[in-house]
Amino acid sequence: MKLILSKASKIKGEIKVGGDKSITHRGLILGSIAKGVTMLTNYSKCDDCMSTLEIMKKLGITITKKESLVRIEGKGVKGLKEPVDVLNCNNSGTSMRLLSGLLAGQNFFSVLTGDSSLLKRPMKRIIEPLSLMGAKINGRNNNKFAPLAIKGGKLNAIDYKTPIASAQVKSSILLASLYAKGNTSVTEPEKSRDHTERMLNLFGAKIEASGNRITLKEKSKLVAKEISIPGDISSAAFFLVLGSVIKDSKILIKNIGINPTRTGIIKVLKSMGADISIKNEKNKNYEPTADLLVKGKKLKGITITKSIIPKVIDEIPIIAVAATQAKGTTVIKNAEELRVKETDRIHAIATGLKKMGAKIEEKPDGFIIKGPTKLKGNICESFGDHRIGMTLAIAGVIAEGKTTILESECIDISFPEFTRLLRRICGENHVEEKN
Ligand code: S3P
Repeated sequence: MKLILSKASKIKGEIKVGGDKSITHRGLILGSIAKGVTMLTNYSKCDDCMSTLEIMKKLGITITKKESLVRIEGKGVKGLKEPVDVLNCNNSGTSMRLLSGLLAGQNFFSVLTGDSSLLKRPMKRIIEPLSLMGAKINGRNNNKFAPLAIKGGKLNAIDYKTPIASAQVKSSILLASLYAKGNTSVTEPEKSRDHTERMLNLFGAKIEASGNRITLKEKSKLVAKEISIPGDISSAAFFLVLGSVIKDSKILIKNIGINPTRTGIIKVLKSMGADISIKNEKNKNYEPTADLLVKGKKLKGITITKSIIPKVIDEIPIIAVAATQAKGTTVIKNAEELRVKETDRIHAIATGLKKMGAKIEEKPDGFIIKGPTKLKGNICESFGDHRIGMTLAIAGVIAEGKTTILESECIDISFPEFTRLLRRICGENHVEEKN
């Protein structure tokens, strides 16, 4: 599939993006091991979350989907059964890393695998702490990569300092610690997204946070809940940038999660001078939500470094597009994690935007981007990476001429509603899909 885009102007409208991907993964996993029926409304229908859902079914959980609701018949922390076949996470790093933690605590054998991209992503970061807890996990190439063969069982608590700020690593350890003897603590160098902690707390687990250190108390019991999932801020980010860089635009994005560990994109765009207002704030205690109103405004270049990186890690590709339209130089540093995402995102973005005429220099840990530049349409590769595909599609409706994004079907991995919403906001003839 290809996505063909042309320059749009004066963008106006109201949109609602799909449910948060990270929260949906956690809802599916914790709902399966809570006692009773958990309902997730406004769940994410993206391919990644469907990988987690199918795996939970293979672990013996009954899950039924309706239009905007998932019903999970949770069987309690000890209710999972040994799968008869390997468990395929497809492209989803969150599925693989979180489920490794869950499976490390099960008294049975399981194998996690994935697609060619996931099989190249680093897994030592979870194998190490889970092995310290006593799990038996073996991975390909001397425990660096998946497939992962897991023989779970009795685990011990650990007090672990993660070398990188990663919510996937932290969550993997927290899920394993539900099965460990003693209290487990995880300390991160910077605070990563805290959806697992918030949801564990909501389900009744005994969890404490102090700065970047999280402790889960032994024998935490989980009780089913009805959860309403906020719109995904990582999906909204594409429209926040689009609305900011096109003159006279005005987009209202309804019901977006504004958990402070995820709102780095709002902070970054505002420091670049963007006009974004946060309206109608709700749900302050659990996962806060708000409507985001963005209006076109001239942007300026800024420097983005370490402390905010975990809060914008998935949004850096689209921030690079904003930077091409901002006056001055934008420097993005300490973002080397981007090289081990679904593809090497530093290389993929620099390649795509350079093809479109941007002044972007690739650095080992980020970019230097000079703006503003008039982008020109071109044929660009998505590298099979959903966020690269969407980032270059946004560049395509800003650029002069035609832009073609190859292998655009990968967009469904995180945001299946993207093309429909972009077409609605930009106009039918600016966004075309072709086989
Ligand atoms: C995620 C955590 C982040 C993020 C990913 C989703 C999660 O990965 O990039 O898209 O749901 O926990 P890392 O934890 O590897 O930084």
